Parts: sequence; structure tokens; C-alpha cells
Amino acid sequence: RRRIAEKLGRTLQQSEDAFIPALSAVPVFKKQQLSTADFKLSLNTLRVSGILPSSGDIQLQTEDLASRLKQDSVVEDVSAGSGVINFRVNRKLLVQKILEPFGKEEDDTFGLNSELFNTLKRGTTLVEYSSPNIAKKFHAGHLRSTIIGNFIANLKQSLGNNVIRMNYLGDWGMQFGLLGAGFGQFGCQEKLKQNPLQHLFEVYVQVNKEAEHNEDMRLAARDFFRQLEQHESQAVSLWQQFREITVEEYQHVYKRLGVHFDIYSGESFHQHQAQEVVQQLRSQGLLKTTEKGTGVVDVSPAGDMSNICTVLRSDSTTLYITRDIAAAIDRREKFNFDEMIYVTDKSQANHFHQLFQILLALGHTWADRCQHVPFGLVQGMKTRIGEVVFLEDVLDEARARMLHNMNQSKTTKEMDNPEDTAEKVGISALIIQDFKGPLQSDYKFDWDRMLQAQGDTGVFLQYTHARLCSLARRNKGIEVVEFNPSLLLEQASLSIVQHLLRYDEVLYQSAQDLQPKHLVNFLLKLCHLVASAHRELPVKGSPQDVAQARLQLFNGACSVLANGMRILGITPVHKM
Ligand code: ARG
Repeated sequence: RRRIAEKLGRTLQQSEDAFIPALSAVPVFKKQQLSTADFKLSLNTLRVSGILPSSGDIQLQTEDLASRLKQDSVVEDVSAGSGVINFRVNRKLLVQKILEPFGKEEDDTFGLNSELFNTLKRGTTLVEYSSPNIAKKFHAGHLRSTIIGNFIANLKQSLGNNVIRMNYLGDWGMQFGLLGAGFGQFGCQEKLKQNPLQHLFEVYVQVNKEAEHNEDMRLAARDFFRQLEQHESQAVSLWQQFREITVEEYQHVYKRLGVHFDIYSGESFHQHQAQEVVQQLRSQGLLKTTEKGTGVVDVSPAGDMSNICTVLRSDSTTLYITRDIAAAIDRREKFNFDEMIYVTDKSQANHFHQLFQILLALGHTWADRCQHVPFGLVQGMKTRIGEVVFLEDVLDEARARMLHNMNQSKTTKEMDNPEDTAEKVGISALIIQDFKGPLQSDYKFDWDRMLQAQGDTGVFLQYTHARLCSLARRNKGIEVVEFNPSLLLEQASLSIVQHLLRYDEVLYQSAQDLQPKHLVNFLLKLCHLVASAHRELPVKGSPQDVAQARLQLFNGACSVLANGMRILGITPVHKM
């Protein structure tokens, strides 16, 4: 009851007048804590049955309860049987309150200021995502990390957090020894400038092949990495060039995806601090040296070395995890975040578990507020050229296929920039395919299925949005009369209103477990409801007040749809 009242904008004081005391008079509700979960708002008759004790004067008790409920304007059609009370939510009030904000202007804060969010902790959230490795393949996992991280950052930001978006590049390690040494032999500055990602990858593949059978190559690689670690200027400037060119290239692709980062950090930033971390571990007695001479930390709960983590090689160089420990400490010092979220595939779950354990052991209690969001594998991500190496190829293919589909329809010919629309719709198809299930699950990449116009796809979301925009465009001239909620009591309309009412709950759910599927399914359902409403509630040809009320309903749906799509990282298109 409190939730209904809250949503309808009434004060709690008033709302508790009739409903809560009336219900708490019933023994079963006295015992049970009434919470949002067991009190689902339903526009259908809410039957409160079988709850009165079978002894005593049931008839009198139910009538008494009913008469108290009748005084409450939030409910209507109250009737009492023997031990049963039926009532409905006041639908006119509901329609009025929900659709009021969607008059002339778009309201894009709908649901975002809900009291529900007061229980969530707000503060600074650092989200680290994408994080590809220079010169290595940009695999499907990096695409997943990119879009999932972007979603989490958008969601956190919508709910009032200060969000720092960070990309942590794999820009350090032995592979740069190979790349640097190999570039002298297989590299070409001209090609590097023309197509950096491609060229670096080619060199990397070639030099790795060479190193397999050529001892000299391996030595040269080791020597190059040593030069890097000792800051020899020639080596460093080549490495810097690789890094800068790569970041620049990635920025183009991220732009196409609608993703941005506040900070491009990377493993290279923390090579020194990583050595300091080793010192700290040593001085706190956490570092153990193995027979082989490597430095390890025992992270097993029982302290029996059943889960150990290597932080130092026998040649005193540090590892991926050592740099991660240093990076986390550095970020906390720099940004004083309240929580930090890492988005990578689930194969790194133990890595992050170990990372958080070691941070805690070092006394960094804030590691409790660090979280790894793991996701599953994508199988069979292929383009016409073959297995995907570069993110850009996936985006190109999505755009080409979408354009091909769009060219079947004649409205495409009237578009100003069909390529741009195809790009945005193609990307939404990728995102929705990815976000529909639990993130932990693996899934099979399927171009045909994800690009279907009908069915639960990103194309369907975009299509619905474009259709709603076109409805608004075509009826721009309609004269405004006062909004009359009594004209929107058909089931098709009530279903939409009732659905919109759940928007804040869905965001809340996604904020709790960081899973986009709640929001995706909510938006898909909304689009299905809109499709029925389009059929049953025509605007054209209806009397002016009816037409206007319906437009207000469709505006509301459109605005929540657009808002939800943006949180998912999708740019809604206005024409399709
Ligand atoms: N570059 C890594 C990879 O491609 C992902 C980095 C994840 N973030 C981290 N802080 N370790 O596997």
C-alpha cells in the first residue's frame, strides 16, 4: 500500500490512515512483514482471501475491513464477501499520476528519482572495462567487457553516482619485448601509420612464430624488454608510439559504439609501484619464496598454501597480478572511490578473488567494496572475412548486414543517412543479443537471429522507438486540451501504464546484481505492449481529446523506452 501511495504521490501520513491499519487488523498480516516483494501492485482484482480466521464473525470482520478501505481514494471497487475482500487500484488516479510528466515535453527523469533508490549507497564508482591488449587480438570478450562496463557505468550514473570510466590497457609485459624486437625485422612505419592495429597484430603474429624456432629472436626480445624496463629512450619511444597509435585507433571504434573513457590507464603505469607492493608484502610477512625462487602469497582460507598466488618471478620481474595490486592501491589514493567494479570474462574470477584477498591482507579494508563482474564466452563470432580479430570488423559487418535488411523497405530510400541508422541499429542488435541472458552464461553468436526485425531483438526496440517518434512527429500540430486520464482506461493503455510503474523497480534490480537482463526484458515487454496499443488505440481519426490522451500515453512509453535504451548503451534512432 505504501508503494502505491508513494507512486501516486500521496503522503505516507494520509496513506496509512486507512489501508495499513485495516490490513494489520488481519491476523496473517500481523505475523508477516509486509514488503514490496509480497505485495505486488496489480491492476487486476487483488483478492485478499482465506486470511481471516474461520472462527468468529467473518462476515462482520470483512465488512468492517471493507468499509475502512472504502474511505481510501487510492483503491476502488471495494467489496466484501465472507472472508474475502476484493478491490482495485484507482485506475484514473494511476493513469493521471504516471502520465502527467509526459505532456508536451519529454520527461527523461521518469522513475530515476524514486524513493526506492534511497536505500542504495551513492558515491564514487570506478568502473574498469574493455581493457584490450596492445598488438594482441581484440577478442569477443573485450567487446562484451566494453558494452557491459558501459551499461554498468551508465546505470550507476543515472542513479546518482559519480562515475569514473577507466580503460586499463594491456600495455606491458614480455610481449612488448617480442613486438619491439620483431618490429625491426617485420615492421614498417608506413603500414603502422595506415593501419596500426592490423599491422601491429601482423608483426606480433610473425615474431611469435619466428621466436618459436629462433633462439636469437627470443634473446633479442628479452633484451628489448630489459631496455624498456630500464627506460632506454629508443625502446621507450617505439613502445610509446605503439601505445599512442593504438589508443587513437580504439577511440574511433569506441566512438562508433557510443562508449567513452575518462581515463586510459594501463599496466605500464604501475611497473614501479608493483615493486613497492612486493616490498610491502615482504615487510608484512606475506611473501613466501618457493624452491624455484618465485615469490608467492598464500591466499587459502586455512593458510595451508592450497591457493597460492605468484607475485614475483625468479628473475625479480613482476606479473599481471602484481601490477593489479599496485593499480588498485593507486586508484584508491587518486580517486578515493567508494566502490570499484572490474568487468572481465569469468576465466579471471580467481585472479580477482586473489587480488581482493591480497589487498585485504595488506590492510586495505576498502577491497571489500571491490567487485568483479564476470561474463561467459561468446562462441562463433565470425564475419565474412573469418574469425574476428578486430572490433571494427564486427561493427562493419553489423552495419552492412543491417543496411542490407533495411534496403528491403522503401522508407530507407527516404532516409538522410541510412548508413548511420544501420550502424546504430546494428549495434543495438549486438547489445541486446548479449544482454538478454545472465551475463555468466556463454552464448552462440548468431547474426541472423539478432538482426530479426520481429522478435526480441535490438532491431525491434529501435523499430518501436522510431515508430513512436514518427507518431509524435505526425501529430505535432494537434491542439492541446487538458489531459483527461479517464480517456485512457482501456486495457491496452492500462497495461502500459502499469508496466511503466515498474521502471524504477527494474532499475533497482539491475543496480543490485548488475545484470542488464532485467532492463532488457522490461523494454522488450514494453515494446510488445506498445505494438498492441498501436493496433487498439489509434490516434488518427479519434476525437481530439482522445487523440491527445493517447499521444500522451505513447509519449510516455517512448520516453521511458529511450531512457532505458540509453542506459543499456544504445542510441535510439528517430527514423527507421
Ligand atoms: N587486459 C586484460 C585482458 O585482456 C584485461 C584486464 C582486466 N583488468 C584488470 N585490472 N586486470 O585479459
